[in-house]
Amino acid sequence: MTDVLIIGGGIIGLSIAWELSLVGAEVTIIERNTCGMGATWAAAGMLAPQAERLSGNLLDLALRSRGLYPNWISKLQGLTGMECGYWQCGILSPYMNEVLVWKHNLQNLPQYCDRQQVKAMQSGLSHNVVGGLWFDQDAQVDNRALAQVLLAALRQNSVKILEGVSVYSIATDHHHVTQLVTSQGNIQGDRYILATGAWTKELIPLPISPRKGQMLSVFDPNRSLKTVLFSDDVYIVPRLDGRIIIGASVEDVGFLAGNTAKGIATLLNNAIRLYPAIANMNIQSTWWGFRPHAPEEIPILEICPKYSNLILATGHYRNGILLAPVTASLIADLLK
Ligand code: FAD
Ligand code: GLY
Repeated sequence: MTDVLIIGGGIIGLSIAWELSLVGAEVTIIERNTCGMGATWAAAGMLAPQAERLSGNLLDLALRSRGLYPNWISKLQGLTGMECGYWQCGILSPYMNEVLVWKHNLQNLPQYCDRQQVKAMQSGLSHNVVGGLWFDQDAQVDNRALAQVLLAALRQNSVKILEGVSVYSIATDHHHVTQLVTSQGNIQGDRYILATGAWTKELIPLPISPRKGQMLSVFDPNRSLKTVLFSDDVYIVPRLDGRIIIGASVEDVGFLAGNTAKGIATLLNNAIRLYPAIANMNIQSTWWGFRPHAPEEIPILEICPKYSNLILATGHYRNGILLAPVTASLIADLLK
């Protein structure tokens, strides 16, 4: 029986642990804070390969992952009896600039809807909306709830979860990882999986760097928004419980913590311009998180070229929630 140590308890580490536990591996997650509280907690939970305009191999991967979601979720929910807010609400990308529509030939795309169709789809949008793209297969999940559901499933499958334990370094000989040096002593396994998100560079010199995203939420007592709105400068994600998540900035500022007045003001202005009812909704909270940015925005999912028992699962940048099921499946295949 393989003994697998996973460094990092974000969505990627948790999803891989779940997949491996299903095939009988003995899995331990080592997380220096609390599982699910990194970028996983900060995200909007959109499952949006089309609205996010992914392309090439990343689009293929993302479409595969979006396709895996319904069964993945129902298995997790069935096992735990918990909900994670998976909602195939579709995503609407409205446009307020006719020139842009014509410049990009959007009116010729099969997903294009004219002004009247967009209005019929969602009331209360800005009068300036001239048309939009409708991605009916894109969806969302409550990423915070999903992390809790995964944790519950892992506990049921006897995965060992070490929280508050930092991995300080990865000890190696010429071609292998030999052990992890941690805040609770040295820990050994047969295989090691690096799922450390934006902090990956602290352990291995991979080109992963943080991209800060600021977010906020408001509350809509009328549940008036029925779909995700995704425009060039803001996205607006209604949850089933009335929360509306508004995001997000993309800032290359290292691990600089905190919300700025400008960051939140920009998001609110853009959101209100698109969906004016937000102006009168109560603000619930503001937060920020660090996306793990990788070159070309493509995640690194492979056996480490230098150490044969180390698997890399990092750099999911803007789409780690979406890519979790397919990542877990690919990494489990690498371990076979
Ligand atoms: P994380 O969730 O950050 O987890 C990494 C974990 O590793 C952390 O818990 C950290 O404490 C731990 N760790 C790091 N170093 C060590 C160490 N040395 N020892 C022990 N533990 C360690 N994706 C989508 O698909 N849809 C979205 O709508 C979406 N919206 C987003 C909005 C924002 C504002 C942000 C910031 C991200 C968004 N993302 C979205 C991206 C998504 O959140 C990330 O790609 C995903 O969470 C990455 O998961 P992860 O597990 O790799 O990283
Ligand atoms: N995928 C949305 C974001 O990263 O902000």
